[in-house]
Amino acid sequence: TTKSVAIVGATGAVGKKILEKLLERNFPVQSIKLLASSRSAGKEIIVGGNTYTVEETVPESFDGVDLAFFSAGGNISKMFAQEAVTRGAVVIDNTSAFRMTEHIPLVVPEVNEHALQNHTGIIANPNCSTIQMVTALQPLREKFGMKRIIVSTYQAVSGAGAEAIAELQSQSGQFADRADSEASILPSAGASKHYPIAFNAIPQIDSFDSSGYTLEELKMINETKKIFGDDDLHVSATCVRLPVVTGHSESVYIEIGKVGITAEDIREALVGAPGIVVQDDPSTQSYPMPLFAEGEDDVFVGRIRKDPDHPAGFHLWIVADNLLKGAALNSIQIAESLIR
Ligand code: A2P
Repeated sequence: TTKSVAIVGATGAVGKKILEKLLERNFPVQSIKLLASSRSAGKEIIVGGNTYTVEETVPESFDGVDLAFFSAGGNISKMFAQEAVTRGAVVIDNTSAFRMTEHIPLVVPEVNEHALQNHTGIIANPNCSTIQMVTALQPLREKFGMKRIIVSTYQAVSGAGAEAIAELQSQSGQFADRADSEASILPSAGASKHYPIAFNAIPQIDSFDSSGYTLEELKMINETKKIFGDDDLHVSATCVRLPVVTGHSESVYIEIGKVGITAEDIREALVGAPGIVVQDDPSTQSYPMPLFAEGEDDVFVGRIRKDPDHPAGFHLWIVADNLLKGAALNSIQIAESLIR
């Protein structure tokens, strides 16, 4: 059966990818409604030769909608997601609004598709950095167990939305005079100070918690435990924004639950696993990079090495398109799982 679909935040960096991917994957759509703010009402978006007109998001927008993808920020989700469910839609929410709510499933289909069984209308799509990490670690966790994860991220600006991409582009144009780069978006739209991202690395994504961690870091910590269903797993994160347009990279250190495992064993466990491509051959300088992951559905893993001093420790380098597997693609995979 075909579905009446709505995309909330359709003019945004992720919303546009959701529309493209729905069409590319021949998702069984009956109709598609593009929703955004009043600022975008009437705007036309052309994809695959079809023209779609954007509408303002109001409660009545969800009448007759079977499936609503939300990607317009947490506040919009809090305002409209329950409303959409009340009007009969299933909501797949790409914001952080409901991810840690107890009875709301937080799903990466390759990892915990089973969690979808108990949904009550809203399903949360995890944080982009979390998704690519858990997708790559799941086969290792299944085979060898997982005790600890320490991750440092190298995140692209598109994760902060279309305005952040524009900010990097304009600052890059001002590179000769970088001191005068104007910054008004990054590190995060609501922050009291802004720093240039061009030719920089900003160790702040989202705002700070009283613990000294950023909310992005806490998302990686808490969401990973929820998706794996393992409160005893030790997870810690440092999240850094880089002047990359699209494609998040992660240096991930893991301690597995077994000793005597080699880097080759890790590689073998990952080759052919769902959604994963291993690119790991120093002799040919083969390793994942964001420039080459952009536009790809898979999660790329390389630089697999054993910790010389820890019998169960390994390093991995994990790269994926943050707008696709990290957001739009994962949301659509959730919808496809629901239909199945
Ligand atoms: P708009 O373009 O009308 O502002 P991004 O993540 O790239 O920054 O995109 C954010 C998305 O959220 C955009 O589609 C934006 O629409 C949408 N959005 C922002 N504010 C609202 C709102 N009040 N109601 C509905 N959508 C909103």
